[in-house]
Amino acid sequence: MTLINVEDARRAARRRLPRIFFDYLDGGAFGEETMAANRADFSRWTLRQRVLVDCARRDLSTDFLGRRHAVPFMLGPVGFLGLYAGHGEVQAAKAAHEAGTALCLSTFSIASIGELREKTTGPLDFQLYVLNDRGLSEEIIAQAQAAGVENLYLTVDTAITSVRERDVRNGFRSLTRVGPGLLAKLALHPRWCLDMSRAGTPRVGAIAHRPEFGTGLLEQASHLSRGIDKSLSWRDVEWLRARWPGRLVIKGLLDPEDARRAKAAGADAIVVSNHGGRQLDGTSSTIAALPAIVDALEGGTEILVDGGFRRGADIVKALALGASGVLLGRAYVYGLGAAGGAGVKRVIAHLTEEIDITLALMGLTSVAELKNVGREALRPL
Ligand SMILES: Cc1cc2nc3c(=O)[nH]c(=O)nc-3n(C[C@H](O)[C@H](O)[C@H](O)COP(=O)(O)O)c2cc1C
Repeated sequence: MTLINVEDARRAARRRLPRIFFDYLDGGAFGEETMAANRADFSRWTLRQRVLVDCARRDLSTDFLGRRHAVPFMLGPVGFLGLYAGHGEVQAAKAAHEAGTALCLSTFSIASIGELREKTTGPLDFQLYVLNDRGLSEEIIAQAQAAGVENLYLTVDTAITSVRERDVRNGFRSLTRVGPGLLAKLALHPRWCLDMSRAGTPRVGAIAHRPEFGTGLLEQASHLSRGIDKSLSWRDVEWLRARWPGRLVIKGLLDPEDARRAKAAGADAIVVSNHGGRQLDGTSSTIAALPAIVDALEGGTEILVDGGFRRGADIVKALALGASGVLLGRAYVYGLGAAGGAGVKRVIAHLTEEIDITLALMGLTSVAELKNVGREALRPL
């Protein structure tokens, strides 16, 4: 398999994974317009080419979320990595750590944060969905604290789940157990089946100790989704701020006014995100929303961004527009679905190389220099 960019990884994942899971990963909400805009809007900006600058030595490392990262991106929270490859959470975290960066584990994960901490050595963040059952939310927060997590992400754009039409068509939305029809479809992907069977029975790690959620992964996930607090509001951010002593990251903001509110509510960082176009279809791309949010916050609160990042140049544009770092979503999961941990490593390596070459051809020697030059490194189209 030739895998020289993220799109190659996507194609390979499509072949290896059962369609129901590939579509869940690949799809967006309703007409998928926002998902497409996340990609298309990168071309609203062009990169400034500068020449005859000594770029023999280059440095991609940069600080965000209280850590030095060897590259200006990390692996963001994506649910059920363990469905794309056996022990997917552990494999992805190891690939991130090997590259000198971090992974943020989703609440909806097969590995619990404690298990991930035991099996890996690098930096780990945790993403929380606030549940109606505040006692259980506190238990999950305690798991993150016990695992030494420093950055807790509160995802705020999913209180109501949108409709992803591919999932409706595939029957994924209502799935609570694997019936004979689905089993027959899964059997068409023997490599994936073998990988899954070796990894053992999957569970939602964070709530596996709670029998009322059921036993199988699908049943647990469906109960947990129903338990997400639909009334989530700024009051809950205050509730969480009072409970979480570490860095609080609010993920899923797209509006400057909300960004200001997040800062006032004590967020240390925000993630400009539209959930990869999986929630409010018809809203703006994240790269288009980023500059106004950077201007609104005027420093003090770190700004990360995700949504549609598939090329090194995309990451360079976001950094020039004022992001401290970028979260990868589908990009690394395509790698995981294509070839497990090795696939994630390949995606990280390709993006790293693309950023390195892009910067050098722009006459920049480091991410630090890019951040200093800022918007001057770009030209609007
Ligand atoms: C299959 C899938 C599952 C996701 N699960 C979560 C999740 O559990 N928590 C969360 O905060 N974001 C979740 N996200 C959103 C990602 O963190 C991120 O915002 C989005 O994928 C970025 O867009 P991109 O995939 O186009 O890069 C998920 C995204 C995908 C594609």
